[in-house]
Amino acid sequence: MSPRTADTAVAVHPLLAERWSPRSFDASHTITDEQLIALLEAARWAPSAGNLQPWHFLVGRRGDVTYKQIFDSLKPGNQLWAGTSSLLVVAVAAERYADGTPHHHAAYDTGLAVAQLALQAHALGLHAHQMGGFEAEQLRSVLGVPDGHRPLSVTAIGALAAAELLPPELLARETAARERRPLTETFYAEGWGTPLPVRHDG
Ligand SMILES: Cc1cc2nc3c(=O)[nH]c(=O)nc-3n(C[C@H](O)[C@H](O)[C@H](O)COP(=O)(O)O)c2cc1C
Repeated sequence: MSPRTADTAVAVHPLLAERWSPRSFDASHTITDEQLIALLEAARWAPSAGNLQPWHFLVGRRGDVTYKQIFDSLKPGNQLWAGTSSLLVVAVAAERYADGTPHHHAAYDTGLAVAQLALQAHALGLHAHQMGGFEAEQLRSVLGVPDGHRPLSVTAIGALAAAELLPPELLARETAARERRPLTETFYAEGWGTPLPVRHDG
């Protein structure tokens, strides 16, 4: 069990327990077409309200123009590490129904599609790191995202590299223990705040 593995009360699927969001990506790694298509298929087959699939993705491969445009939109703290990933993927939600009224589940559905993509990355022996730290308006304009569509996240995907390759300020975060709020503070029954009465200590 890797030190990055989630500490769970009972075992969960290894894909879930072992997924994590690294910053150290291998700058020499390239993704194969087969791997890329597997990632896209994993996202495409996510569930969505009414099967409306209110998601679109813009995909940059390291070295191409799209990757550079996506990278340039990242906040400085993310630019410190994300440029060695093999892919940068922008998830965009279509926020309106065809008749123009707001689609309130668009972000929910798009997040589900990204979750599937991230887990497929892990299943392929790759890693994914989602980011909200980017300039959405910059991306919208440079990549021609139409009105009514909102860039929600950028996901860096690639092969893991040694943590020691990171700048010192990122090394500690890369190796810090992964943590979550306890089950008791997250899952309720009989009203808000009353913990669901299940064993939670493993
Ligand atoms: C919507 C979203 C936005 C995030 N934004 C950033 C970000 O801008 N920069 C960053 O380094 N990590 C970002 N993360 C990664 C989270 O910090 C990370 O998932 C969280 O700390 C849990 O760590 P784990 O994924 O390794 O379990 C983001 C994750 C999500 C889902």
